[in-house]
Amino acid sequence: MNILVTGGAGFIGSNFIYYMLKKHPAYRIVCIDALTYAGNLETLEKAMENPNFRFFKGDITDRKAVYALFEEEKFDAVVNFAAESHVDRSIEEPEIFLKTNILGTQVLLDASRKYGNIRYHQVSTDEVYGDLPLDRPDLFFTEETPIHTSSPYSASKASADLLVMAYYRTYGLPVTISRCSNNYGPYHFPEKLIPLMLINALEGKPLPVYGEGLNVRDWLYVEDHCKAIDLILHKGRIGEVYNVGGHNEKSNIEVVKTLLRILGKDESLIRYVKDRPGHDMRYAIDPTKIQNELGWEPETSFNDGLRKTVNWYLANTAWWQNIVSGDYMSYYEKMYKDR
Ligand code: NAD
Ligand code: TYD
Repeated sequence: MNILVTGGAGFIGSNFIYYMLKKHPAYRIVCIDALTYAGNLETLEKAMENPNFRFFKGDITDRKAVYALFEEEKFDAVVNFAAESHVDRSIEEPEIFLKTNILGTQVLLDASRKYGNIRYHQVSTDEVYGDLPLDRPDLFFTEETPIHTSSPYSASKASADLLVMAYYRTYGLPVTISRCSNNYGPYHFPEKLIPLMLINALEGKPLPVYGEGLNVRDWLYVEDHCKAIDLILHKGRIGEVYNVGGHNEKSNIEVVKTLLRILGKDESLIRYVKDRPGHDMRYAIDPTKIQNELGWEPETSFNDGLRKTVNWYLANTAWWQNIVSGDYMSYYEKMYKDR
């Protein structure tokens, strides 16, 4: 197979590329990435040594460039990770989220139609379902849960999902969608909760917990997500949505305290700061469908995954120090100075 992976210089896309190159050594993987602030070529350094891998710098909203790449490569499948992915940024500047996440998806769908009705997989998020109340632990997101978004980010991802399903229904494009819970692991950009707290703790900086830290996220080790996408791509039913999550709900404060314990640091660095506007309370995935239909099960427990993640950040200080010493610092100043 020749697979186009979009957004492969980011967190989950890069992990997926490494997973696929190892799992399917005969496959060719082509990555298109615009290298926004969140994309990092250093992340793909090892993949570049593999003759079955090609990196192409390009924007998924650039129809001409995308069509030229499809024309040249004759892809068998497309897996779309490329997105603006950070909720806090979407609250500050929604427009780029609409452009990349919706219009970019449309360009990829059009290209997939034009160049041979190509198998298309959309990497979506559980955030399209909105949130669940904290006092109803019996409730979970299923694939039938109505779309009910909160942030410009989740609204843009939900819009893209609707477009994907429209291309299936109207044009018969062979699509699938996965909606995964929060991921963590290697190459996670430092603006997100786990790497931000980990790096701040290592540098002795305050740990900014929004509100009371009681919001709940359902954490999944990134490799388990990659495995799910690989399964859906090969065995998933066309036109279907699959929720991906490992029943691993934790409040934010629990996550931060667990990280501090692993790092052997005390809790004095924790600061409760101004809450995120429209902050979703709880995400929780019901993964029954992917378990029953595709036999998917998560392999990495939260404790093991968090330890692996901490060890990765300790062993790869140059990777994150290059990020936090650049433009990221001005982002951090802007977002946290008045919190
Ligand atoms: P990320 O921000 O780390 O990476 C996004 C990548 O997309 C970057 O390499 C960036 O350069 C690239 N990109 C952005 N705009 C582009 C454009 N116009 N053209 C080409 N490339 C572009 O994001 P991530 O956390 O790896 O998330 C990947 C996908 O998974 C996203 O679609 C996200 O919505 C979804 N998702 C993420 C999570 C999570 O916990 N991080 C959970 C569920 C779903
Ligand atoms: P984040 O990693 O941004 O993912 P998402 O908003 O997509 O779930 O945030 C995870 C949780 O952590 C969310 O409830 C917001 C909270 N959070 C903080 O408390 N402090 C922070 O500095 C950040 C970035 C997030």
